[in-house]
Amino acid sequence: MKVLISHITLATLLLAISSFATASPRMEEGKAIYEETCSNCHETGVDGAPITGKAEDWEHRSGLWEAVLFEHANEGYLKMPAKGGEKSLTENEVDLAADYMLTITHPDLPRD
Ligand code: HEC
Repeated sequence: MKVLISHITLATLLLAISSFATASPRMEEGKAIYEETCSNCHETGVDGAPITGKAEDWEHRSGLWEAVLFEHANEGYLKMPAKGGEKSLTENEVDLAADYMLTITHPDLPRD
């Protein structure tokens, strides 16, 4: 009986750990969308796009609510085209890509 309980505890622990890792399915999907649509501008900084992974580019933006950044990604913001110009993306897909970008840029911040 004791063995069984410790197995269950271990399984629960592993599940908890894997949901924190960036390799979660959510992050994988966001990464794929990001690479397809967003990386063109956000890897190189086209038109002043904040570069993914370069925290200082995001400093004056990350103070905003994440929801505002997600809304800007969907609706467009100054030179940022709505949905990165890929109108066929759903709002959820754009959110996943934006979440991926922010996670790469601020790996230390807790995510949900
Ligand atoms: C055609 C180039 C281009 C593409 C493609 C693009 N972006 Fe952007 N993005 C920009 C530029 C330029 C800015 C900076 C806007 C500004 O502040 O002038 C920006 C800003 C942002 C911001 C910050 C908005 C804010 O409020 O500060 C987010 C978040 C973002 N992009 C997400 C995305 C996501 C997610 C995708 C893919 C679905 C994407 N972008 C695709 C050019 C692009």
